[in-house]
Amino acid sequence: MKSETEREKIEQAYREIEKYRDKVEKDYYRLQYHLMPPVGLMNDPNGLIHWNGVYHVFYQWMPFHTGHGAKFWGHYTSCDLIHWKQEKIALAPSEWYDKDGCYSGSAIDHDGVLTLFYTGNVKDEHGNRQTYQCMAMSKNGIDFEKKGIVVTLPDGYTAHFRDPKVWKKGDKWYMIVGAQSESLDGKAVLFRSQNLRDWEHLGPITGGNSRQLGKFGYMWECPDLFELDGQEVLIVCPQGLEAEAMRYQNVHQSGYFVGRLDYEPAQFLHGPFAELDRGFEFYAPQTMLDAKGRRILIAWMGVPDQDEDKHPTITHRWVHALTLPRELKLKDRKLYQTPVEELQMLRKDKIAYSNVTIANEEMILEGISGDVIELNLENIRLSGGIMEIAIRNTARIIYHSDERVLTLERKSFANGLTEKRQCPFGTFALAAYVFRHVLDGGICE
Ligand code: FRU
Repeated sequence: MKSETEREKIEQAYREIEKYRDKVEKDYYRLQYHLMPPVGLMNDPNGLIHWNGVYHVFYQWMPFHTGHGAKFWGHYTSCDLIHWKQEKIALAPSEWYDKDGCYSGSAIDHDGVLTLFYTGNVKDEHGNRQTYQCMAMSKNGIDFEKKGIVVTLPDGYTAHFRDPKVWKKGDKWYMIVGAQSESLDGKAVLFRSQNLRDWEHLGPITGGNSRQLGKFGYMWECPDLFELDGQEVLIVCPQGLEAEAMRYQNVHQSGYFVGRLDYEPAQFLHGPFAELDRGFEFYAPQTMLDAKGRRILIAWMGVPDQDEDKHPTITHRWVHALTLPRELKLKDRKLYQTPVEELQMLRKDKIAYSNVTIANEEMILEGISGDVIELNLENIRLSGGIMEIAIRNTARIIYHSDERVLTLERKSFANGLTEKRQCPFGTFALAAYVFRHVLDGGICE
């Protein structure tokens, strides 16, 4: 059962959805098939799990305005990763240990019970922070009951200690938490448990200012650790990395290390850090394993503190969305991400061109247009020089074949100036075709 306070908070949030429904839905910028908040601000995806044949995506949610604050856990479900249903609000910040936010966390199945782990965020009147790792459970996967604190802050860390991700290995449970050490270095900290209630602190498995890394950010958020194609991958969001040439261009970063996790003593031996996405908006990714054995990643299509208050959607009382689900594969210690194959269900009305030659000119191909389309380019052969694809008048994808650099350029929504993100791009084999994307009825049976 939920407490009276939690029920009231949830009622307040529902009233907010009702109050602004029209305003939100009339926004020109509302997306067609990405997950968005019904009102207010959405940030990290939480509690990703494929449970009893249903994909669950929870998310950090501030219903009452378009900034951050005491977060709720909103909830969507899907049978196919395409058609999503908005479920009841899962968690609201209501108890003394989570009153300033039910912060990010994860989900597991425990003997048929959908169990959530999240961070209870508490701030006193002077802004001092406390952090508690908490648990909540549900038998039907929809109505959650809080079970209180399971991990308190160990010595050696500041109260920036959050975002528990839990998994099972053998007959034991493990939890990894994002942390800041007292020396102000970002760390990933491991815990072990037999029963999900009592957790033993095994220590930091890697982090900044350690044997493996020099200074590497002042805080690591949202860690995720999983096995993939015979190796282990640690995803983490380091805050405080300096921009270096084309790398680390966003305010905060998210990327991964590939390596091997030793449980005794607890350490993660790994290679170098690689960014997961070089685009403008990408942060706090989380993964889940589905019944087909796929490792699926969804991220927040936003970055903390990066002109969040200047998004054009704010006048319609909502902001941010989640990325489309991506399937991960590991090859030669490198992560490859492809949109999940289910997305092909959205394809309608293919328009294709082949053997197109463009020579120092601008070309518009009839039918290659529209607001909601998928553009595929295959077998492009460049005989030197530059190739550009213009998207409306606001963005361009540019490939410099001499430098072998791919650039995404756009007009900033914050100040109208051109901004760009880039990455080296070795081979460029791209025929052009588009699909109109149409989202039709749900199919959960
Ligand atoms: C990452 C993050 C998490 C925290 C949550 C709060 O975007 O800062 O570390 O749990 O957002 O909404």
